[in-house]
Amino acid sequence: MITLKGKTLLVTGGGRGIGAAIARAAVGLGGSVVVHDVSASALTAIGAELGASCHIVAGDLALADSVGAVWKAATDRAGAIDVLVNNAGIYEPADPGDDFAVWAASWRRTLAVNLEAPAHFCRKAIRHFQGRGGGIIVNMASRAAFRGDDPDYMHYAASKAGIVAMTRTIARGFGRDNITAFAVAPGFVRTNLNAAFFLRHGVDAATRDIPLGAVAEPEDIANVVMFLASGLARHATGTTIDVNGASYVR
Ligand SMILES: NC(=O)c1ccc[n+]([C@@H]2O[C@H](COP(=O)([O-])OP(=O)(O)OC[C@H]3O[C@@H](n4cnc5c(N)ncnc54)[C@H](O)[C@@H]3O)[C@@H](O)[C@H]2O)c1
Repeated sequence: MITLKGKTLLVTGGGRGIGAAIARAAVGLGGSVVVHDVSASALTAIGAELGASCHIVAGDLALADSVGAVWKAATDRAGAIDVLVNNAGIYEPADPGDDFAVWAASWRRTLAVNLEAPAHFCRKAIRHFQGRGGGIIVNMASRAAFRGDDPDYMHYAASKAGIVAMTRTIARGFGRDNITAFAVAPGFVRTNLNAAFFLRHGVDAATRDIPLGAVAEPEDIANVVMFLASGLARHATGTTIDVNGASYVR
């Protein structure tokens, strides 16, 4: 029932983790992908793996003006984008006990990569979709947007709450242009993002709070994104889908 035949997805941060799983799943369902990442080596690897159905585009989203160049390269290579998946994100601590300069730099970096760059991509996508009868936006949020996070991740939680509010606003504002927008809110997923946590506390510390008894795999998130990207969830526009094994039910 789910197919992405004829659709092109732009997946940011798709060199590894959840983004790479999304790119693989999309190609598996007959779609094409433009995979973006900051890591050239990760891009080369996923490009080689996915072959002709995959274009790759590099760009550092911490830099203010990178989104325009990434979007241009993506549309130049693919011709058109049908689905934007704002997936790239960072998860670095900022302890209130840190020096102000360290704390403020981490807030700036986190908001730049996790919220401002996705906003600039959404702006590009909205204008692009308005010129071609519509499109779909999927923004990667987090359980942290609703539950909050550990004290040294206030900025991360705030960035993801911003993603949810932005997604809802796009859904309400551009539905008449046939533009739909969704957020996905994972809990713990087995990726590099959590490598430091797993190393320090072990995977068991993460699973203790998860009724399903396991952290999610990147594919668990990709499956949900495929459903949204397929267009089958059209009337659910504006919603956020939680994918957290019932560790936080709201
Ligand atoms: N892993 C989890 O437990 C979890 C939970 C909730 C939400 N998320 C969200 O899912 C998304 C994907 O995370 P993941 O777990 O796959 O993490 P990951 O670290 O494995 O992958 C993130 C990707 O984003 C890219 N990236 C990071 N900084 C970038 C920058 N400045 N410019 C361009 N690309 C950049 C990385 O190179 C990497 O490929 C993120 O938005 C994250 O916040 C993850």
